[in-house]
Amino acid sequence: MSVGIDEISFYTSNYYLDLRTLAEVQKTDTEKYYQGIGQEKMGMAAPDEDVVTMAANAAQPLIERVGTDAVTTLMFATETGIDQSKAAGIYVHRLLGLHDNCRVVELKQACYSATAALQMACALVARQPEKKVLVVASDIARYDLDSPGEATQGCGAVAMLIAADPRLIEIDPEVGNYAEDVMDFWRPNYRATALVDGKYSTKIYLRSLKKAWENFCEASSLAFGDFSHFCYHLPFGKMAQKAHQHLAKVNRSGLDAEQVEAQIADSLHYNRAIGNSYSASMYIGLTSLLENCKHNLAGSRIGFFSYGSGCVAEFFSGKVVDGYQHFLHRERHHNMLEARTEVDYTRYLELYRYPDPRDGSECKIEAETTGRFRLAAIRNHKREYIAV
Ligand code: HMG
Repeated sequence: MSVGIDEISFYTSNYYLDLRTLAEVQKTDTEKYYQGIGQEKMGMAAPDEDVVTMAANAAQPLIERVGTDAVTTLMFATETGIDQSKAAGIYVHRLLGLHDNCRVVELKQACYSATAALQMACALVARQPEKKVLVVASDIARYDLDSPGEATQGCGAVAMLIAADPRLIEIDPEVGNYAEDVMDFWRPNYRATALVDGKYSTKIYLRSLKKAWENFCEASSLAFGDFSHFCYHLPFGKMAQKAHQHLAKVNRSGLDAEQVEAQIADSLHYNRAIGNSYSASMYIGLTSLLENCKHNLAGSRIGFFSYGSGCVAEFFSGKVVDGYQHFLHRERHHNMLEARTEVDYTRYLELYRYPDPRDGSECKIEAETTGRFRLAAIRNHKREYIAV
């Protein structure tokens, strides 16, 4: 019996800022962003959106198909937590109308936590193959204004149904892990934006890739040449390009630059238009690969490198299932990205600074999102979510 990803769906906000606009305001060359970091647009959450509404929007199409009673565990990965105690997944559980007997939990380790959720979900399903686990990862990436990280902001959520005999990707049990206590990127509880040592973080990312890959090679019989494509954690597209060149070099792959690039190019399209969505980003990258690759990927092995600052990294692998093309949400995803509204710099600042009351004061939030779920108000320290 195989276990893995049966269906995958993502969501991002209906607003975006083109990095050309940011470059103009900062008097920077737009190509620094378009080429230098490999990003074009960044998603900006509407005032009535947060990680809960984005996650519910991502998961809704999967639940519509399998029904509300099919999911026995909901795992919510995020580093944009809205509560220190209550799991964000509980709100999603209600919004989606999931069964009372469903287990719900939130996981955190920067951008890595969705991979922990995926692996735990696979283990649960391997033990009880009739069960289905819903893994959601949802984040809003925020850095200080005028900081080097600003151009790498973004927002998005991904939902994956983990099941036996999956229709998209069979996840192999062998993994390679690496963990190290480093301060490359972090967000203390009292801050809304991340602190980051940007250049150092890119070095740690590459070091973790090599270490996780070496550990993977001890566990798995697969070699670099067995993979047709790779999906990397995507803080920005250029990071994945550098990482993959690094891995190809470490393995003396013999591939030329074009061949190396071809192994990741299709995984970058969606992220280029959304920005960093932290825990969701690698899985939105996988969706991009499956939905945009012109070749039939059935039977191909994909290598995954998941990285979460702080840091925890994991290299793992999966095989694309025959007929996967029939179970994608390609058209809906393309339409969602096409239908978004570009914001100007003034509106970007309004969205960036939208009040997020921390004193429990009453706050009614006007309807703005085009998503199915919205945050309607905060009253008595309680967040009020509704379906539109
Ligand atoms: P910076 O220092 O402003 O950028 O920000 P730069 O000066 O290094 O330029 C970037 C690239 O653009 C360079 O290319 C320039 O040469 C090029 P490179 O040398 O790197 O190949 N460039 C141009 N190209 C074309 N035309 C031009 C031009 N000008 C310059 N005119 C930095 C870069 C990464 C520091 C910043 O974006 C940042 O701090 N980002 C946030 C941190 C980050 O994303 N780190 C990634 C690794 S850590 C991670 O992935 C985890 C994370 O997702 C969080 C989590 O786990 O939760 C962040």
